[in-house]
Amino acid sequence: METPLATLNDRLKKPIVMIGLMGAGKTKIGGLLAQVLGWPFVDADHEIENAAGCSIADIFEQHGEQAFRDLERKVLTRLMSDELKVIATGGGAVMNEQTAQLVWDKSLSIWLRADLDVLVERTGRNDKRPLLKGGDPADILQNLMDKRYPVYAKANIIVESNIADAEITLNERVLPQLADYLEKAE
Ligand code: S3P
Repeated sequence: METPLATLNDRLKKPIVMIGLMGAGKTKIGGLLAQVLGWPFVDADHEIENAAGCSIADIFEQHGEQAFRDLERKVLTRLMSDELKVIATGGGAVMNEQTAQLVWDKSLSIWLRADLDVLVERTGRNDKRPLLKGGDPADILQNLMDKRYPVYAKANIIVESNIADAEITLNERVLPQLADYLEKAE
């Protein structure tokens, strides 16, 4: 297979930030992308949990969503300021204006976009997401799609991530679109 990787690596000058709704595949596909690039991969939610010393659900419950968003912004600022890496953000990160500005200005952003039924199925596999606990997850996710998709649409690259096989999404969509984006940006 012809690989554009050597040239991709040369052209990448900013961290890559994965954005999209819960269940879109940011952690899975971001991790695979990092492996292929030979870059570190960091999941911002895990970093937030490490920084806080407790789970995301506990932060929401004990301190509220605003405290979580403040911590999320601080963690992302730190993650984006050192060595190049792939960062998976939580679905709400770019809904905070300052965090969004940071992502648009200082990273190459990739929006993983998936359909509602796919997101409902994937997020239903565990109960780690506090935002999906207050009602019907399908209604909540639909509502978040309406609010967030216009913001996610500012990403540099938009990739559909409905299919279950993340390697196919990476190889057949993310990598070619990344190569195309970098070529046009030059
Ligand atoms: C959130 C998404 C979660 C996590 C938190 C809030 C959101 O991350 O940051 O529960 O606002 O969409 P994932 O998108 O990785 O599930």
